[in-house]
Parts: sequence; structure tokens; C-alpha cells
Amino acid sequence: LGVAYQDNVSAAERHHHAAAGGRSVEQLTGPRDETPDARFTLTAAHGRVRLSSGREIDALTFNGRSPGPELRVKAGRLVEVTLVNTDVEEGVTLHWHGVDVPNAEDGVPGVTQEAVEPGGRHVYRFVPDRPGTFWYHTHRGSAQTVRRGLFGALIVEEEKATAGTERTVFTHLWPGADEPVAAFDTADRPEGEAVAAGEPVLLRVVNSSEEPHLLRLGGTPYTVTAIDGNAVRGPAVLRPGTDLLLAAGGRFDVAFTMPDGPVTLSGDVDEIPDSAALVLSPGGDAAPAPASTVARFDPLSYGEATATAVGEAYDKTFDLALDDGFGFAMGRLNYVSSSVNGRLWPAVPMLTVDEGDRVRMRIVNRSLIDHPMHLHGHRVRVLSRNGVPATGSTWWTDTLNVAPGEIYEIDFTADNPGIWMDHCHNFTHASEGMVMHLGYA
Ligand code: C2O
Ligand code: CU
Repeated sequence: LGVAYQDNVSAAERHHHAAAGGRSVEQLTGPRDETPDARFTLTAAHGRVRLSSGREIDALTFNGRSPGPELRVKAGRLVEVTLVNTDVEEGVTLHWHGVDVPNAEDGVPGVTQEAVEPGGRHVYRFVPDRPGTFWYHTHRGSAQTVRRGLFGALIVEEEKATAGTERTVFTHLWPGADEPVAAFDTADRPEGEAVAAGEPVLLRVVNSSEEPHLLRLGGTPYTVTAIDGNAVRGPAVLRPGTDLLLAAGGRFDVAFTMPDGPVTLSGDVDEIPDSAALVLSPGGDAAPAPASTVARFDPLSYGEATATAVGEAYDKTFDLALDDGFGFAMGRLNYVSSSVNGRLWPAVPMLTVDEGDRVRMRIVNRSLIDHPMHLHGHRVRVLSRNGVPATGSTWWTDTLNVAPGEIYEIDFTADNPGIWMDHCHNFTHASEGMVMHLGYA
């Protein structure tokens, strides 16, 4: 295609990305001197991973496994993570998806750091500001390296521990060999895990794949308590089997009381209907289930209404049109499935803001495929979809699935100086050029 991978930028190219609010990216770091409250080392290496289907595959691993170790940290406390690359020839970084870290900790090669080559290491330091379900993944050659296993969960906890059982589930599509892709296969996830009836359960579901997943929780009524690590106010009780569309890169926290029968998380992914991700089985006595109130989940209207600013004045407004077809890059016209305003990275102009700006963005998907749009360093608020205003609990998101024909209006505050990627989280689309940057003047 003549288009470089979005995250294979050379060091020199960072200087074409002018804007970081009058500061160099190197100045925009997490606290360097304080003693961290939590320290982790993540070592990237080739390895074998055994999936819950029993199949063994060649994978890329952190600390010998994929998903990598679940990192648990407290909100408001300093965390330090040392990344070591043993033998991943593509190079590795760590991006803290959904956590609004200082720019230099963001893990974007060629923009905020050099990728860590085999034998190298890099230290990240940041203070996660709010509790929630987040994840980490490499950002170099992501269309291959994330899919092959370089990701894991980052759970930011409240100061006080919460009661009950917690499980984190990645709905990951492993690259298939000749057989169909092993939907939802996750290492270390035995079928039929025991959870006592009556026990409160929190499932943290992360979509680490390139496609949106249509999920269903069967066997119990439940609530969606958080979206992309943002708590939902007054979540309604949903019926078992309700459709939950989880964006690529997105997260849902799902809560219920363990009933006296099994609970199953399943979904339709690609051509594979009803792939089971997780089965929880009870022992003991029945627990009374709360009555379901709604049969439909739509984040636009879910939860107790929060006042939304009407007629707010914005400092900057951006329009993004997502297209199929031809796009310009490096002075050439290329056929691609994914472009922004008719252009491909690096020809997509930088979105430039001043610190403190209130920013409104309109995203139109004129293509025939989903585009999960992810802005680094900022969470955004959804104002409307197809002209219908948001009426539920404020829908904060970091990865918004924009389906074919949809028009979203979102807003955010430019409160984190630096140079930030804004891209499609279908990494294949991103590698085709569906990438831009937000920069501070
Ligand atoms: Cu989760 Cu730029 O990525
Ligand atoms: Cu896309």
C-alpha cells in the first residue's frame, strides 16, 4: 500500500509532530522521584499459550502468559512498571488503554518514546486517577502483536476492597490456523468455575480483539455498572440474554448475585455463534434474583439521567468522516478500507487544541464497516447518536464503536498536554492509515 504502520514511526518523525503545548514530550512525565506504591515488571517474549479449548498456540507473552498478569493498583497511588523485551523483534511498548497518563508514559513508539528492542527496557510511572477496568497492550505493529498476545488487564481499585467474587474476561480472537478462529479462548480460564450461590459477582469484560463483540450474559439478571472504567449512575437491571455490544478495546463491568444455576457469558463473534467465554457454576442454596426492568441495553439511555450541557459554547469543533475507498498518503492515492476525511496517516492533519479548551467532535461513518474510535489521554462524553441526545447516566468512553451510517457527537476537555493518537482500534484499519493526532498548541 505504500503506507507505513501507524506505530512504526522513526524517531526523527516525531519532530514533524510539532505540538505539545510548548513543552517537549520528555517533560510531560509521571512523578520521577517519589517511591511507587506498586512495582511490576512485564517481560515480553515468544511463548506457547494453552487456550481453554485445549489448543496450544505460538503466542507473544508477558511473563510467559497471555493475557499477561493482571496488574492491580489503587486509584491515586503511584505505580511503576518496568517493561523488558526479551526477543520480540517487532519491538514492544506499553500503552495504558483508558488511563489518562502524562504524555511521556503513553507508550506510542515514535511519538512518546522509542519502541523497546530485544534486550532493552523502559520504565513507566503514572498515577491512575480513578478506579475502573483498564488494560495494557503493546503499541508497535499492533495488528499482529496485540492479536498474538501482548496485552493484559490493569485494574484500578478503590482504596477499600470490595466484597464478592471478581473475574476478568478477555474476549480475544486468537489468530486461527486452519480451523476457525478460537473465539473467546482465554488462557487459564477453566470451564465451570465454582462460585457460591448468593455471592456478589463482578465480571470485568475486556474486548481485546479488532471487532465489536455481541455478548450475552445468561442465567441471571444483572446490571452494567461501568463502561470503559466509568461508573454508570443508577444502572437498570437487565434481563438475562440481553444484547451487549462491546466495542473493540472497550470494557463493561457486569454485576449480579450468583443464582442457583450456572451463569454463562457468550456471544456471537465473526461467524461463530454462541461461543462461550466463561461459565460460573454455583454450589449451595438459591439466591433470590432481582426483577429485570429492561430488555435493551444502550449506553445512550442507560442509567439515571445526568444533566447534559445544552447549547454549550465550544472552543474547538472537529468533523471526522470515516470512509472506505481511496485515500491520500505520501503524495499517492491508495486503495484502502479505512480513511479519515479522505486521507491516510500521516496526511491526516493534526487536530490542534489549546490547554483548557472545550472540544466538540462530530464523527460520521460513511463506510460499510465498524470503526471503534479511540482517543488517547482523554475520556470523552457522548452527546448524541444520529441526532438523538444522550438521556442516561453520562456516557463516558475511551473507545466508541461507530457503526456504518452512524453519526456521533462527543465532547471533551483538553486537559492533558502532549501529542495524542486518535485512531481506529481495529488495528488493521489503523495500519491502513485510520490514524490522526491531537496536539496542544
Ligand atoms: Cu488501545 Cu492506541 O490503543
Ligand atoms: Cu476502523
